[in-house]
Amino acid sequence: MIIRNMEAADCRGILELASGWWGSEYSSDMFSKWYIAHFRETCLLAEENGRMIGFVMGFLSQTYPDEAYIRIVMVDPAYRGKGIGRALYHAFFERALAMKRSVIRCVTAPWKKESIAFHTRLGFILEPQDQEVDGIPVCMDYDGRGGSRVVFKKLLHAE
Ligand SMILES: CC(C)(COP(=O)(O)OP(=O)(O)OC[C@H]1O[C@@H](n2cnc3c(N)ncnc32)[C@H](O)[C@@H]1OP(=O)(O)O)[C@@H](O)C(=O)NCCC(=O)NCCS
Repeated sequence: MIIRNMEAADCRGILELASGWWGSEYSSDMFSKWYIAHFRETCLLAEENGRMIGFVMGFLSQTYPDEAYIRIVMVDPAYRGKGIGRALYHAFFERALAMKRSVIRCVTAPWKKESIAFHTRLGFILEPQDQEVDGIPVCMDYDGRGGSRVVFKKLLHAE
């Protein structure tokens, strides 16, 4: 398995695979050549024998100069539980640290228990919120469009 930066030419493949990997329709402005072109350093692809098996996409915060934000991670269902998601995150962490970002943020939907388990295993904390759902802190209307999210944070330390 190798992990490399995405290229604009990877866009079509990601568009074709994302909804199947997500388990339902998943569309996003991120899956576009322009996003990859402008955020290439924080968009990473895992490949095995030239086949795409996972990806992570994020960006460096302009507002908070010590922060990077992971927007989405997906691994081919056939390759889950083999450390690919962990490897993608670690590659993202490495690049973030190299660009002087020591705080990583990301979010997930409160009902995505597997994602909460994954992020917890990767050392993220669940940021405290005013409200809890089933004992899990949830930020209500996180996105300003009615979407509630569990908010994760991880501090990186240079080795
Ligand atoms: C979440 C996802 C990226 C995990 O990828 P993965 O390659 O299977 O994860 P890894 O094998 O690297 O697992 C890393 C750690 O998380 C844990 N983990 C991963 N999936 C888990 C699950 N479904 N339930 C419980 N723990 C899980 C693993 O046990 C592992 O911990 P350990 O190494 O300490 O034992 C993958 O399941 C996926 O693509 N899901 C659909 C998309 C999604 O939900 N993305 C996250 C929201 S943005």
